[in-house]
Amino acid sequence: MKKVLVIGGGGREHAIVHALSRSPQVNKIYAAPGNAGIAQLAECVALKEIQIDELMAFARENAIDLTVVGPEAALAVGVVDAFRAAGLKIFGPTKAATQIESSKEFAKDLMKKYSIPTAAYEVFDNYEAALEYVKKGTFPTVLKYDGLAAGKGVVIPETLEEADEALRDMLLNDKFGHGRVVIEEFMTGPEFSFMCFVSDEKVYPMEVAQDHKRAFDGDKGPNTGGMGAYSPLPFITTEDIDWAYDHIMCATANALIAEGCSFRGVLYGGLMKTPNGIKVIEFNARFGDPETEVVLPRLESDIYDIFCAVADGEEMDEIKWNDKASIGIVLASKGYPEAYDKGFVIEELDQVEGIVYHMGTALKDGKYVTNGGRVLFVTVMADTFAEAQAKANAEVAKIQCDNLFHRSDIGWQAVKYNFCDK
Ligand code: AMP
Ligand code: GLY
Repeated sequence: MKKVLVIGGGGREHAIVHALSRSPQVNKIYAAPGNAGIAQLAECVALKEIQIDELMAFARENAIDLTVVGPEAALAVGVVDAFRAAGLKIFGPTKAATQIESSKEFAKDLMKKYSIPTAAYEVFDNYEAALEYVKKGTFPTVLKYDGLAAGKGVVIPETLEEADEALRDMLLNDKFGHGRVVIEEFMTGPEFSFMCFVSDEKVYPMEVAQDHKRAFDGDKGPNTGGMGAYSPLPFITTEDIDWAYDHIMCATANALIAEGCSFRGVLYGGLMKTPNGIKVIEFNARFGDPETEVVLPRLESDIYDIFCAVADGEEMDEIKWNDKASIGIVLASKGYPEAYDKGFVIEELDQVEGIVYHMGTALKDGKYVTNGGRVLFVTVMADTFAEAQAKANAEVAKIQCDNLFHRSDIGWQAVKYNFCDK
């Protein structure tokens, strides 16, 4: 029987722990730091995701068979390099391979060099030069601060004035730290998330998903880290997936090998189906959040086998998925993504028929309380999207808390088009 350590403590890590708990080979799961919901399935360890030495000592002392990394911050500081150097098995890419996410410039240059389709771009570290370039282009334009900015580094100005202000923040005032800016062509079309398990040149696709970034129904309100997600997708055909698999995901895995930083872990393609074909918006070097919370429940294969095969660079059998419609809804603190209060009691969670992932909760006096912007994620699977959406909304309505809100139209695209009998 195997012991696994999962690094991280959000909804994504809850979904990873939940998938591991379904493996008959795994009998003990630790999570560092984990969260109050993860604690139902795993023993939480009070270590932060970037405390590499302490995490390695924990893995050694507890004879951990496999460590799985959730968040990019741990990857970007080289947790995988350190574990591997010490002979400890770990699932995730090295620091060098993580540049596909941590450096926009690295990712864009790689795509250009290996003809992987993406928006045309230029990189700047000088404010005046950047402004000149923007003046010559069209609007909207896309400005991306180069560095890990937790999703906050992208600005899409509609006017020169807005672009100027953003460039000042990024290049003169160092709002996100000192860095560079990638300026790219604005693309249009539906976005989708295509995650693959990548083990050097071997690429195993997951089911595609889409998240809903806007705070309110009808895709209105401010951008958030994601208010819900669903899988599979109405507007992405098998041909689209096959094309993206060959020309984007496999091409990128091979490009990384050619650059001397072979990738082992989850390669996340944030893709857009534009009028000129499928193009890359961004890559991540990890599972997406909240896409993972709707995709992993559809996994039928043993995730422990998958993680080990990827970590060891070995072949594996084709991964099996169910054909359910999967919809997940975020319950967020009122005020999110701006300021919000914490500490509100959450009740009736045990009444929910579905999977309840904890994103930001704490346990206080034996009760769950809100402890973050995004608090809970409820996933429901059904035979059709209409059914899944109705049931997900009904289950979310059972949860009692004075300070939560959620969207009720998650998956509307799939429901509207009655996609593939789902
Ligand atoms: P990123 O952090 O690169 O994923 O960008 C965040 C969001 O900005 C994406 O999910 C897109 O909605 C939007 N975006 C980024 N790049 C572009 C682009 N070149 N054209 C249109 N929208 C974009
Ligand atoms: N859902 C987008 C991300 O994980 O970055």
